[in-house]
Amino acid sequence: MGIAYYPEKRLFVLTSGNCTYALMVHPLYERLVHLYYGASLDGEEAAKIFACDDTPRAQSPLPEGATPVSGSLGNLAQEFSSFGCGDFRAASARIRTADGFDATDAKYVSHRIYSGKPALPGLPSSFAGNSEAQTLEITLCDPVIQVEFILSYSIFSGLPAVVRSVRAVNRGERAVTVERLASLTLDFPAEPFDVISFHGAWVRERHFERAAAGHGIRCLGSNRGLSGHQTNPFFILCDPDAGETHGRAWGQMLVYSGCHLAEIERDQYETVRVQFGLNPERFRWRLEPGESFQAPEAITAFSDSGFDELSRTFHDFLRDHVIDPKWAHRPRPAVINNWEATRFNFTEEQILAFAKRAAELGLDMFVLDDGWFGKRDDGTSSLGDWVVYDKKLPSGLPALSEKIHALGLKFGLWFEPEMVSPDSDLYRAHPDWCLHIPGRPSSLGRHQLVLDMGRPEVVEYLFRQMTAILDAARIEYVKWDANRPITEAGSALLPPERQGEAEHRFVLGTYALLEKLRRRYPEMLFEGCTSGGGRFDAGMLYYTPQIWTSDDTDAIERLYIQYGTSFGYPQSTMGAHVSAVPNHHAGRVTPLTTRGDVAMTGAFGYELDPGSFSPEDDEVVKRQLADFRATQQLLLDGFLVRLGSPHTDNLCAWMTVARDRGEFVFTAVRIMALPNPKLERVRLRGLDPDAVYADAESGETFSGRFLMQAGLPIPVAKGDFKSFRRHFRRRG
Ligand code: GLA
Repeated sequence: MGIAYYPEKRLFVLTSGNCTYALMVHPLYERLVHLYYGASLDGEEAAKIFACDDTPRAQSPLPEGATPVSGSLGNLAQEFSSFGCGDFRAASARIRTADGFDATDAKYVSHRIYSGKPALPGLPSSFAGNSEAQTLEITLCDPVIQVEFILSYSIFSGLPAVVRSVRAVNRGERAVTVERLASLTLDFPAEPFDVISFHGAWVRERHFERAAAGHGIRCLGSNRGLSGHQTNPFFILCDPDAGETHGRAWGQMLVYSGCHLAEIERDQYETVRVQFGLNPERFRWRLEPGESFQAPEAITAFSDSGFDELSRTFHDFLRDHVIDPKWAHRPRPAVINNWEATRFNFTEEQILAFAKRAAELGLDMFVLDDGWFGKRDDGTSSLGDWVVYDKKLPSGLPALSEKIHALGLKFGLWFEPEMVSPDSDLYRAHPDWCLHIPGRPSSLGRHQLVLDMGRPEVVEYLFRQMTAILDAARIEYVKWDANRPITEAGSALLPPERQGEAEHRFVLGTYALLEKLRRRYPEMLFEGCTSGGGRFDAGMLYYTPQIWTSDDTDAIERLYIQYGTSFGYPQSTMGAHVSAVPNHHAGRVTPLTTRGDVAMTGAFGYELDPGSFSPEDDEVVKRQLADFRATQQLLLDGFLVRLGSPHTDNLCAWMTVARDRGEFVFTAVRIMALPNPKLERVRLRGLDPDAVYADAESGETFSGRFLMQAGLPIPVAKGDFKSFRRHFRRRG
């Protein structure tokens, strides 16, 4: 790992893992030119790319200082591209001056290289010890509008990834407005590429989609105030023939939970530009003289051997540099959550009965979901009133928690802090505390409004209410929900010229509250949730080491959701529960074993009435808990190998392998039963060919070579939706 600077060429070369990233200062124009991002290369040689690409072209305006043989910045690859000054592709920044002009064009000023990785104030950001990371900071300035841009590039030992972010500083004497500030600009050469993105909807999040990067601009983003169920802030650009084990792939992930936008543009010369960051449609930020604005950070990672390795880099990166180190590799409780079984209709007796059965089965924690506060009998009231609903819980939360602890279980509680019901004491006292636009009716979503989290007094209020609950009772887990997107995003606190800031300020306020609570309760496990997986992003993972992956707990739909999610995010971050059948959302009936096997490759639990189990079910559940515990550390520390896709394979299989390859767990689900079926074997990957692996249950042995070359036989079974799970350990 290292960042080298070659002063004669004014060339920067970042080398990390097996990857090289190179850029330079244009010798005539002083702008930052991108050279190369891919498999390791002699860094100095990367400068030759500039010589090849810097060619004059028709219809390409030239900046001041051009000679007859120099090319246009509008065609060269850029690190931070201009707006309105001759580069007609998507721009990195657009700043509007007090006079109304928006041309933006920044030149190199200086740089510094140092050890470590600084945190971004107010934002979630990656971290590393000083010896583990190195950072290059390049200062650019648009001398006309006197705005400085500080580009930051960090690399981390052993990981083929670069973390980038940008800060804009107003060095002028009049206010300016930031209208666009991408966290990441990447220019790729004129080659065919595919784009892989993860689209979806509520109860079917992050489905894999692959399409050629064609001409024009493909936009992947969210304008919902939340990163959203619809398009995850993670996507991959890859060779058209790239697969799990071969081909080049570049993954991009934003460490942010609000509106985002990725633009992938193929231009007239076939080059491909990527801009990724805050969604300019939903964002404006006014900078007074001397003020600065920090854009969120983006992670980009490279693999020259397909998606397996790319996913591994993201999983390692998130576990080691984004997720709270206290939790990243720490076993999580197997929970029982009452939501799907009771919805809002529960009593204290019922909760205790659930908990008693859960304790008998061997679960670790009872999580009380929505409905315990205010006067919450359904979705129409009480959000914002975080005081116990004594009609439902007459003994109060501290007593309930003690009773649950006495059964041997820990206790977790649901909150939806960022929201308010119009029918609530909070709304009646402070109608101005929700996001709204005067004179315009506010749209309701799930009967609720969105709090103006950008107001410090709102964050303070929520902190006080939540700490009053969390201090009084023994609570070890908080489920942090948010059940509607943002509309009419106006803030009563902001002056007219700052209204464009409301949505980003909302995100910053949410982060501020999460940070305050995390500091106050360092041992608390927070699970993120946004109507299921509506905010499954690296920003939330910084505060909540696991996220409820989807409200859809149907084992088959979960194959698609967990498959798509796994491209960017580790399995251990995916909240996954066994629920009753027929499933609420899919209406499907799947075997309990399959539901367990699918859920067990995430942060595991149950979401049903444990009193509904038959004696046989009880035995299956006890067995599942034992299996989960036997393999949980493997899931937390190991690496994932995808062996098929539910989109193309009736047998969808995956495995998690220990770093030292001494152990692995294999799971497969045959989606539909086939009459008179073929004989199936799955060729495994990632094992030690010379090791002998023994099945932890039957003792049956196979060599790693056999499993990888001949394959693991999958038994024939009757009935749809059957799963097969085997745990192997190296013998001897
Ligand atoms: C959201 C969550 C569910 C549950 C309900 C409660 O839909 O995703 O898990 O907590 O809210 O209202």
